[in-house]
Amino acid sequence: MKLTVIGCGYLGATHAACMAELGHEVLGMDSDIDKIHILNSGKAPFHERGLDDLLAKHTASGRLTFTASYAEAAAFADLHFIGVGTPQQPGKHAYDLTHLFAAVRQLAPRLTDAAVIAVKSTVPVGTAPRVRDLLHAHAPARDAVEVAWNPEFLRESFAVEDTLRPDRLVLGFDTAHSRAETMLRQCYSQIIDAGAPTIVTDWATAELAKSAANAFLATKISFINAIAEVCEASGADVGQLADILGHDVRIGRRGMRPGLGFGGGCLPKDLRGLLARAGELGAGQALALLGEVDTINNRRRQRMIDLAREQMGGDLSGKRITVWGAAFKPGTDDIRDSPALAVAQHLHELGATVTVTDPKALDNARKQHPELDYADDPVAAVQDTDLLLHLTEWPQYSRIDPARLAARAANTAVIDGRGTLNADAWRDAGWTFKALGRP
Ligand code: UDX
Repeated sequence: MKLTVIGCGYLGATHAACMAELGHEVLGMDSDIDKIHILNSGKAPFHERGLDDLLAKHTASGRLTFTASYAEAAAFADLHFIGVGTPQQPGKHAYDLTHLFAAVRQLAPRLTDAAVIAVKSTVPVGTAPRVRDLLHAHAPARDAVEVAWNPEFLRESFAVEDTLRPDRLVLGFDTAHSRAETMLRQCYSQIIDAGAPTIVTDWATAELAKSAANAFLATKISFINAIAEVCEASGADVGQLADILGHDVRIGRRGMRPGLGFGGGCLPKDLRGLLARAGELGAGQALALLGEVDTINNRRRQRMIDLAREQMGGDLSGKRITVWGAAFKPGTDDIRDSPALAVAQHLHELGATVTVTDPKALDNARKQHPELDYADDPVAAVQDTDLLLHLTEWPQYSRIDPARLAARAANTAVIDGRGTLNADAWRDAGWTFKALGRP
């Protein structure tokens, strides 16, 4: 099939490359011309495992190209995926739909023939009819343009895998959708034939699927982090407790790692967006718990700052602190709402000299936080430090020998915010070892 993907960020670029991998002819479209140049050279403008390989393979095969032109995109295919960003509105909890409506407004007047617009961006429930109305009002093909809602559940750092082998496919349609379902089933036929559960539903259910899933994942994390607070007050070990709970298949251990909490471009914003939308719909009370989920999550960051201050005798001014990790989670260079950087910045504001290291996210961190110091090497970053904080659990950090580090540090104190360092090994190497939620 021929198809386009409008918006080539983490979601769209991955979707475009994966659709080419499925054998389709794909045109990716993004208004950022620099991004288009990078993508057309067969590289990703961000770090995502396996994506560079797919982009190189399919830009070379000619199945995948990128453009900044809406006219080209409209003329290229009659199936258009939209994967533009829908961030949180500044100072508000609601989604900012500017990019989505701008994309629809740009595309619509160029749709002269029947077409299907499949939206993947995460939105407040009730957006699909607005998109349809805009398209029908401005597209020359009018109601021959159909809207499908096809939420994307990919995790960063597993994005290619999750797109090619998703847990489920959700396809949301209006009552009148003769072409849309046929085209999407054809587009995803390999994935459907491989057995991915495929749920065909209405627009509202498809729209809610993504934000509800992310709100649940966030709730699971904040639940175990709330229990971590009780562990801190009682001397229990939240890591062991999570293992014990996780053996119950109804609970499950996955997605329940206690620690510094969640960040990134999705969980925090989807939690807040869902809460805001439920409020608008008069159903805010039903989701009041989500406000608490957010509060618990932010309290983890504060707890880490308090522990650091305590460790430094109550005053952080002039102290040297090393932070391992800048990305919001391992495996990505994404620093959106990164818990690690939020803590690092706060410690800097409290007077500490903070040196941050990360295997992938330093360039992004430098741009956003020029006030912090940076080091490429996690071992060198510990030179003369008063305190080491482990805030993003890159696997390579837990392989570093603490004995090797001890000689470099001015003061051998470490706080593990992610629960993946071996406490005994660090203590044996002479470190004062503390961890969130653990004795
Ligand atoms: C998430 C959803 O998992 C994905 O389905 C959706 O499409 C987009 O949002 P992502 O943001 O890539 O994906 O990351 P995820 O792996 O879910 O982690 C989100 C945050 O939660 C990270 O900051 C991570 O460190 C934290 N987290 C995750 C925990 O603190 N504990 C966990 O058990 C899991």
